[in-house]
Formats: sequence, structure tokens, C-alpha cells
Amino acid sequence: MVDRGRRRRWLLGAAGSVLVALGAAGCALKGNANISLVEGKVLFIKHCAQCHTLDRASAKGLIGPNLDSAFAESIAAGLGRNEIHGIVESQILYPATGSRMPKIEMTTRQAADIAHYVEYAAARPGKDGGVLAAAGSTGFLAPAVEKNGKLAFTANPTGQLAYTVNKASATAGSVTISMTNASGVPHNIAIQVGTGASGALLGHTTIASSGTASISVTLKPGAYTFFCQVPGHRAAGMFGTLTVK
Ligand code: HEC
Repeated sequence: MVDRGRRRRWLLGAAGSVLVALGAAGCALKGNANISLVEGKVLFIKHCAQCHTLDRASAKGLIGPNLDSAFAESIAAGLGRNEIHGIVESQILYPATGSRMPKIEMTTRQAADIAHYVEYAAARPGKDGGVLAAAGSTGFLAPAVEKNGKLAFTANPTGQLAYTVNKASATAGSVTISMTNASGVPHNIAIQVGTGASGALLGHTTIASSGTASISVTLKPGAYTFFCQVPGHRAAGMFGTLTVK
């Protein structure tokens, strides 16, 4: 356990001194809030989770302070979430002399992304949703299900060559298929009849490294393959099966 008195003194000292730097970082990140959060979560899992507990990132490290309890305590004591950002950022970039937390080599942008995620996630009840839920995980989410003629896909936000699901289902008829990509890696989604490699192509979205693109296709009952047409991506696993009833 960390000595509470020591940590509290440190927190209070840091909160004042980093606020100016923090304001600037906060603005720069606004336009990219989602990508920054996703990136921050992935980096947190990679660099911080082995030592810190943070529930939303499924981090269970016990060497450093539990960031949920540490920040719950600080929030209860009146610290704003925006101040968490600065504390985390400066803890990463400028660890105090004698700190038992190692200096981790990373860019200021990476540190800002991690701080952005911890600010969002620390001591926040519930679980991460949407694109963030898949960040840092290699498993597939529950199958995508068509609703009111719309079927939505998301590319793996961490840049893995995969969608967040490998199964989907729809009812026959006209369906608008969308694919959201926040990974920064170029992808699209194409729909092909059957589950083999040579079925007829029903349609495809444009290839892009961000944003959401959609297509309308008319589906009959049967099995289809959804996949990414960027060379090499399907072979690497960026495909799945769409079952139409
Ligand atoms: C090898 C273990 C280790 C790693 C990896 C690590 N930390 Fe720490 N961290 C600690 C320890 C130990 C402390 C306790 C403070 C001290 O000794 O200075 C700490 C303190 C902190 C604090 C201050 C919490 C408080 O209540 O005062 C924050 C914030 C923090 N770490 C964030 C991070 C982030 C973000 C990362 C990833 C970039 C990270 N840590 C990586 C061990 C680690």
C-alpha cells in the first residue's frame, strides 16, 4: 500500500503546477477525442496495467496505487476530472525523483492519450462501451445484428486486421451496411455471396482510414462473407460470416 499522506501531498502539489500545461493538451485533443481515448486505453494496457488497477481497462496490477480508489478519493476531496489528466501526464513524463514508478519512454502525445483515458475511466462506474470496449482486447464482440434495415460494423480500433465481430445476422431485404473505422489504418467492408473466396461481390464501401462509410445491398436468405478489400487484410483475418434469414 502507498502511504496515503505522502500521496495526498504529492497530488495537491502536482494539481497546481501542471494545470497550465494541461489546458493546452486538452484543447489539442478535442477534435480527436475518440481516437485519443482508444489509443490511450491501448497504451495504458501495454505500459501501465502490470502495476496499476483500473477497472475499465481490466487492469489488475498491484505494484502501484489502485488508480480507481486513488482518484475516487481525490474526486471526493474536490479534484476535478480535468485535473486528473495533468497529474497522470506529469507522472508519466516527469516522475518525481525517488519515485518507484519507472520512467517510461514515450512521446508527449502518447502520454496525453493515456492521461485522457485515465481521466475518463478512473473511478467511473460501469464498463467501456462501443469502440472503446474492443480497444486492447483481441477477442470478438457479440455478433452484429441488423435492426430496422441497418447493420453496423466497426474495424478493430487498435489497428489489428479485424472487425470487432466475426459474425453478423440480418433479415432478408434491403440492408444498409456501415463500417466505422477509428484505427487510422485504411479499411473498407465488402459483401460477397457465400463463404468461399469466389462468390459474387454485392457491394463495397470506399477504403478510408477514419470515419464511417456505408452501402446498401439487397440480401436474400443465405450465407455471405463480409471482408476488407485492402490487399492482405482478408488473409490476415479481416472477414466474417453474415447469415441472412
Ligand atoms: C513498474 C510498475 C509501474 C508501472 C509500469 C507504472 N507505474 Fe504508475 N506508479 C507505480 C508506483 C510504485 C507508484 C507510487 C508512487 C511512487 O512511488 O512515486 C505509481 C504512481 C502512479 C501515479 C500516482 C498515483 C497517486 O495516487 O499518487 C499515477 C497517476 C500513475 N502511477 C500512473 C501510471 C501510468 C499512467 C502508467 C503507464 C504509463 C504507470 N503509472 C506505470 C508503479 C508503476
